Amino acid sequence: MVIAPRVGVGPRGVRVRALVGGDVRALHRAITESVEHLRPWMPWIDDEPQSLEQRGAFIDGARRRWSAGGDLTAGIFVVGTLVGCCGLHRRIGPHGLEIGYWIHPASTRRGYATDAARLLTTAAFGDPSIECVEIRHDRANGASGAVAGRLGFQLAAASSREIRAPGEVGVEWQWRMDRRDWVERHPPAPTDQAE
Ligand SMILES: CC(C)(COP(=O)(O)OP(=O)(O)OC[C@H]1O[C@@H](n2cnc3c(N)ncnc32)[C@H](O)[C@@H]1OP(=O)(O)O)[C@@H](O)C(=O)NCCC(=O)NCCS
Repeated sequence: MVIAPRVGVGPRGVRVRALVGGDVRALHRAITESVEHLRPWMPWIDDEPQSLEQRGAFIDGARRRWSAGGDLTAGIFVVGTLVGCCGLHRRIGPHGLEIGYWIHPASTRRGYATDAARLLTTAAFGDPSIECVEIRHDRANGASGAVAGRLGFQLAAASSREIRAPGEVGVEWQWRMDRRDWVERHPPAPTDQAE
């Protein structure tokens, strides 16, 4: 995947970059403090609590996957503090990437997930093989859908799926952004074109 380790900086100073070993304590703290906030929507919370060592192994594994051209697992940072995580996942076919995100409950409703998803979408289309980016969530997760809607993603499909977390109702909403629509909304700056 042709995506720089530092995905970018958004308008509110939101930075998105791949997690590194030095983030382990910040990640540990953010997840530990967010468990009940994430439980309704994130199935992996069932594996909590995790030790610092397990957290370090997760970061190592994520870095290996990304170096090998697989998924990107990134931190969302505001003024140097990790406020959440996000990622680009290769699970919707060879020409698509799916965005995932979560934000610490003390930092929600400030536009951070929207900024992170915007940066990730631009990064995803930086890979010439990517034609569409999707955000998928359970219908009951209105906050996740609002992020997609604010960025101009179109609701492309709704389908039944297994309930994997306690907040879900088992209907997956699939929001899509095609390359052409994104480039029309966010034409590259002249300096980007020169590089
Ligand atoms: C979904 C989530 C990442 C949104 O993060 P966020 O940083 O608060 O999102 P933003 O501030 O960019 O908000 C975007 C919009 O979502 C909507 N929104 C946010 N939280 C909401 C909530 N609790 N209820 C209803 N709408 C909500 C609002 O319309 C908001 O815009 P506004 O504050 O200007 O009205 C966050 O709520 C979260 O971590 N949830 C748990 C994990 C999760 O569900 N991840 C996605 C799995 S698919």
